[in-house]
Amino acid sequence: MAQNDAGLRRLLGSSWFYQGFQDALGAVAFRGRLATWIDAAPGHRVLDIGCGPAAILAHLPAGIEYHGFDDSAAYIAAARARFGDRGHFWQARVERATLDELGRFDRVIAIGVLHHLDDAAARALVALAARALRPDGALVTYDPCWAAGQGLVARALIARDRGQDVRDSHGYARLARTRFHAVSPQVVSGHLRVPYTATVLRCTQPAS
Ligand SMILES: C[S@@+](CC[C@H](N)C(=O)[O-])C[C@H]1O[C@@H](n2cnc3c(N)ncnc32)[C@H](O)[C@@H]1O
Repeated sequence: MAQNDAGLRRLLGSSWFYQGFQDALGAVAFRGRLATWIDAAPGHRVLDIGCGPAAILAHLPAGIEYHGFDDSAAYIAAARARFGDRGHFWQARVERATLDELGRFDRVIAIGVLHHLDDAAARALVALAARALRPDGALVTYDPCWAAGQGLVARALIARDRGQDVRDSHGYARLARTRFHAVSPQVVSGHLRVPYTATVLRCTQPAS
């Protein structure tokens, strides 16, 4: 089970509740910081895997060409309602997505997605990203992680996540190295209103 939607987690399936919950945690301010790591520039083509309601798009520069897909029809509907023709949004699962007709991208992002995927699906995501990127492009991911010295509150929050495949930073980096020659993991904390620890991966030099 890669995603647990039991109990109160079911509420997060509503895009309205999901976005309100993220805002309460302080994710709006953090998305601005994530955008600096993504480092997209006008003219760039950006692919967002597991885009959810595509909230990151509000923090990316005008003039990019944004494509986002997600397994959730409700989140895709919310993305379309909010952003209209600022992006191309469609429903698909990572494991079955085919992107070859879309051409190559400068950035592929997967924000909060790898920890929803078991190793086989996560490797499929990494392979999809490597195939979709231009040779000088970058994959940027962000996911909650286990870390030495992590506080009890952070561990408790992460243990209750819908995503059932939280890893440590080495685990995320190992997955990315199956298709990228250069992978830089960074462990971040103190970025939300609650104690939380996450790994940001910047992956370049996709294997051809
Ligand atoms: C924590 S949310 C992150 C959403 C969005 N990236 C954001 O930053 O708000 C994880 C997302 O991954 C999507 N997801 C989970 N498993 C998926 C799969 N196998 N294929 C496509 N999307 C998936 C979920 O529907 C959900 O929108």
